[in-house]
This record gives sequence, C-alpha cells and structure tokens, in this order.
Amino acid sequence: MSIVVTPSGQACGAVVTGLNLSAPLSDEQVVEIRTAWLKYHVLSFPEQKMSDDDLERFTLCFGGFGHDPFFDPIKGREHIAAIRRNADETSPLFAENWHSDWSFQEKPPAGTCLLAVEIPPIGGDTLFADQHAALDAMPPEMRAKLEGKIAIHSAQLAYAPDGAYGKKDEGRSMDIRPDESARETQVHPLIREHPETGQLGLFSCMGYIIGFEGMTQQEALPLLTELYAWQSREEFVYRHKWEPDMLIMWDNRSVLHCATGGYEGHDRLLHRTTIAASA
Ligand code: SIN
Repeated sequence: MSIVVTPSGQACGAVVTGLNLSAPLSDEQVVEIRTAWLKYHVLSFPEQKMSDDDLERFTLCFGGFGHDPFFDPIKGREHIAAIRRNADETSPLFAENWHSDWSFQEKPPAGTCLLAVEIPPIGGDTLFADQHAALDAMPPEMRAKLEGKIAIHSAQLAYAPDGAYGKKDEGRSMDIRPDESARETQVHPLIREHPETGQLGLFSCMGYIIGFEGMTQQEALPLLTELYAWQSREEFVYRHKWEPDMLIMWDNRSVLHCATGGYEGHDRLLHRTTIAASA
C-alpha cells in the first residue's frame, strides 16, 4: 500500500499516513517518504507508537546519525537527545530563536527527527519557515545585497560558556554541555543549492550566523537583522501542532525552525535524532 501524503495547506509541511513506524519500512516506503520530505520539507506522522529503537531505525533509513555536540544523549543511547522542559521550569525556553540545526558544522545535518514522548495539552507548537519560498519572494534590491555572501557560522552565542546556554543558565532540565569549542567558526554560502533537489534557498540565519566574510560586524549586523525578519515572515511559516504519539522529520537544508511556549505548568518531552548530511 502506498503512503498517503496530505499537504498542510501552509507554506510547507505535510501529514503522512498509511504507515506503521514501529515496524521496519520497505525500500519503496523509504523512497516515498524521502520524495515527500524533499517536496514538503517537514513531515509529520501521527498515531505512531514508537520506541527509541524505532526512532533510531527510522532515522537510519534516511542517512547516518548526525553528530550532536553540546548535548548529552539520553541514558543508554548515543544518538538520542531529550528536548525537555519540566512543568515548573523558569529558564528561558530552549530553541525559541529561528535556526537550522548545527549549521556551524562543516557538514550540518540534513535533517532532524523529533518524537513526541510527553506533549502538553496546550502550546508548545514548533514553527518552520520555508527558506526556498523566502528566497523566491525576496525583493530584488534585498537579494542584490545578499547575493554571493559567504556567511560565518558559530555556536558561540548559544553554547560557549558565556553563551545563552552557558554557565549562567541555571535550572534547565535539558542536559546541555556548553564548551569553548563553540567559538569555532565555519563558512557556508548564504544562498545555496539544496544538495538533493538543486533548488536555491537561504541557509540558516542570525544566531548561528555571526557575520559575513569581508564585512565588519557593524556592516553585517543590520543586514542579518533585516534578513532574519524577512526569513521568518508569516507567509513562509508552517505552524506544527503536536499530538501524542507523533513523529516529525524536517529538512535543515530547506527550513528554519523554532520552539514556542505557552504550556507553563505542563511537562514537555521529545526525543530527537539528527540525520547526517548525504553530500
Ligand atoms: C529544536 O529546535 O530542536 C526543538 C524544537 C521544539 O522544541 O519545538
């Protein structure tokens, strides 16, 4: 039986049914999922009762495991991280800024999988912004300022000891390990072809992007700020609403994502893997 793919009707995203992800997938099903993933960039799989073994097996259908720095994995697993917030937690929300996962790496992960373990009754949506659409709709004068720019990426603002999740970040339930290595930098073209589809898009945003080659910070910052506002405009956004027993996977090469709050007083827990770059 073929899978059923239902577009979200928003900027990107689709719901996939007709599968049981607690059992191995056939080669044909993997091809169908990959095709839908490349087209819609974010896929959600509702009503899936999956274990951590199932999550790992699903991830490996789409590439190797990515390398996840600055997090300790959950007990007994090398490649699963817990995205956790306890009901009484008061530290700033994790991942509330737009980003593309680990874009400061030489080969950032192609994708990310997130499995619902405990979903609050309200809030906690994850937002996605389609960066092919953002580039396509960009006014020519803005695009001219960005064309050919090489972006400098770093994890320093988030994961260096003096970063947002650094030593002063107390009372967080997530197992985050800030480190001096977060200051390392890596460059990527801002506008680039998707390695599988060839479609042009914007890659990553201010936060992990800390500047542009050949520009001073003073010159780069206003441009990064203007770009960030454009990249996350409403018309490029898909709002993902979580349900219990749901898995999602997204394409870090095509979308930015960010977490949202609104579930104070409730626990929220998801298990996350990353899919290594294929090219
Ligand atoms: C993440 O950025 O990995 C977390 C997203 C979320 O918590 O919704």
